[in-house]
Amino acid sequence: MLSGKNIVLGVTGGIAVYKSVDLVSRLRKLNANVYVVMTEHAKAFVTPLTFQSMSQNYVVHDMFEAPKTWDVEHIALAKKADLFVVAPATANVIAKVCHGIADDFLTTTLMATPAQVVFAPAMNTNMYENPITQNNISMLKNLGYEFIEPGTGRLACGDLGAGKMAEPVDILNYIVKFFEPKSQPMKGVKVLISAGPTIERIDPIRYITNRSTGKMGYAIAKKALEQGAQVTLVSGPTQLTPPEGVEFISVESAVEMYDVFMARMQEQDIIIKTAAVADYRPLEVAKEKIKKSEGEMALKFTRNPDILKTLGERKTHQVLVGFAAETTDVLTYAKRKIEQKHLDFIVANDVSQEGAGFAADTNIVTLIDSEGNVSPYSQQSKEAVAEIVLEKAMGYYHKVKAKE
Ligand code: PMT
Repeated sequence: MLSGKNIVLGVTGGIAVYKSVDLVSRLRKLNANVYVVMTEHAKAFVTPLTFQSMSQNYVVHDMFEAPKTWDVEHIALAKKADLFVVAPATANVIAKVCHGIADDFLTTTLMATPAQVVFAPAMNTNMYENPITQNNISMLKNLGYEFIEPGTGRLACGDLGAGKMAEPVDILNYIVKFFEPKSQPMKGVKVLISAGPTIERIDPIRYITNRSTGKMGYAIAKKALEQGAQVTLVSGPTQLTPPEGVEFISVESAVEMYDVFMARMQEQDIIIKTAAVADYRPLEVAKEKIKKSEGEMALKFTRNPDILKTLGERKTHQVLVGFAAETTDVLTYAKRKIEQKHLDFIVANDVSQEGAGFAADTNIVTLIDSEGNVSPYSQQSKEAVAEIVLEKAMGYYHKVKAKE
């Protein structure tokens, strides 16, 4: 099943190393070529000879050791990888990769590989839940690294909680799925997506904006791309890297976003407006820095164009999807937006809930469509939400196509 696939397995120092031996055995049974790279600390748990016997390949564990063949020199191995799995991945290796530290063979190879890297974390619960580790994981996810979530249970240290490395069979399933030919239900479909906040300038130094990070919109762009769509991502300022393969248009203000959408709407099949667009902008943008003076200060605002509403008025064949970020009467306001903006459906998120809306890696959404169907979903990753939104949008797309 994995014949000819080159899998580089990074093994770092944790008690879960024994499970990685089992993983290598399972990979070999599926005919994968497995190349193991061990850190110094990993060798304290299992010897390189064990991995060498299981993988039938030389195990690299010393940066400055003369290469046995030029094939295992770190750049060669980085290039050879079709998939790079780090299991177990300690808090230390995650932190190092996140901050670009390449001080041994494994981290150097990880820095050099163009392959997809996936981490299977294994560590004490407090280390896993430590905001430093969680921030590192979040940053790496934003850069396209993937994670196989650890399980919850009794850890080697005796603590109960999250941090148990995923079982070898689960890691194997991820690997098998990774190499399965991807179905491309959106091949040839043109999708225009907005993401992130807008910023509205006050003077050369100050602006108003909102808490959108772009995670939801970028997840939709990534998933649409994976499903074969031709994706244009229009984004306000974020810290995220656009998925490789999208046409990326960077904008700052609502007016700039409006101009791009009006220029590009006609050629699209599906338009998804995930961005948190400012409803107002300062009436005047001061040319010089506004100086403080005694007493209060007031700014006058003017309305921004409602991009989605205008799209709704002008749409011909496009499937139009809005998002609604609300804190009260979520469904009532969301339903109103469907009518006012002529949407096919809206994705309502109650941004007052933990794990929903702005900045989180997860979202809690309810899809409401123009026929009155209301479908609530439990908390899930923004990528899983993206798949739900795209599947629904494709349902409308096929209806449009059937009428043509
Ligand atoms: O970016 P993240 O941190 O991942 O957060 C995701 C999110 C919370 C921003 C996202 O899930 C979300 O809810 N986006 C819509 C936020 C919003 O601004 O909702 P709204 O109710 O103000 O606007 C409704 C719809 O009209 C949205 O599709 C919006 O893009 C659109 N709109 C709003 C104002 C305007 N002037 N023009 C618009 O097109």
